[in-house]
Amino acid sequence: MAFTGLFLITFLIVHAGVNACIFLNDGGETFKDIAHFMSHNWILRFLEIGLFATLILHMIQGLMLWSQNRKARPVAYHVTKANENSKWYSRSMGILGTLLLLFLIMHMAHFFVGTKIALYGGDKPHDLFEEMKTVFSVWYIVALYMVGLIALFWHLLHGFQSAFQTFGLNHKRYTPIIKAMGAGYTVIICLLFALMPLAFYFGWIR
Ligand code: HEM
Repeated sequence: MAFTGLFLITFLIVHAGVNACIFLNDGGETFKDIAHFMSHNWILRFLEIGLFATLILHMIQGLMLWSQNRKARPVAYHVTKANENSKWYSRSMGILGTLLLLFLIMHMAHFFVGTKIALYGGDKPHDLFEEMKTVFSVWYIVALYMVGLIALFWHLLHGFQSAFQTFGLNHKRYTPIIKAMGAGYTVIICLLFALMPLAFYFGWIR
């Protein structure tokens, strides 16, 4: 689970980085060039299959972990001082993950399906920049993206440091550094993503 999680964490850096080109406010030219290169490069097409396989594996691993935990303690504790032993979001990874899955289904319907139809059967190339403008002109879609990103924030905040802990990196000196790096990564990625729908909605990007 830690391996698949770290792969997805890396994907989000690339995804946020490429999309952040929209902030250049050049009518989406730079973003469209990179998106076009990425959708026509066979190595990246191959990696895309790996990405979806990793995503599915990560979900299966999460379900297996959840079922193992239930089997390990079929009878619930009489008294749990949950908040003293762990953070609420570390105990809510399943719910946060499910919210992210719902977010991803909506996200794929917005941006993935149209691109693929255009790539394999459409007559004109798909303009993802225009698509973003259209999608993010609707207030409740922007609001749903914010909900998805709040779920992503808490999921990553725990997931990042949890992955390193799984690899056995649990050390008085290094664990606080890893936690700080995880918090920095989470804030930057989620803030960048959140600014994208907001920038289109409020017309900061044209
Ligand atoms: C809110 C800001 C976001 C924007 C504006 C955005 C935009 C896009 C766009 C335009 C595409 C199509 C790219 C293409 O097919 O070439 C895409 C694909 C994708 N996005 Fe996002 N995205 C955002 C956030 C996220 C988040 C938070 C996740 C994951 C939790 C995510 C996961 C994906 C995945 C898995 C794909 C398919 C990747 C592929 O085709 O290889 N996106 N996104």
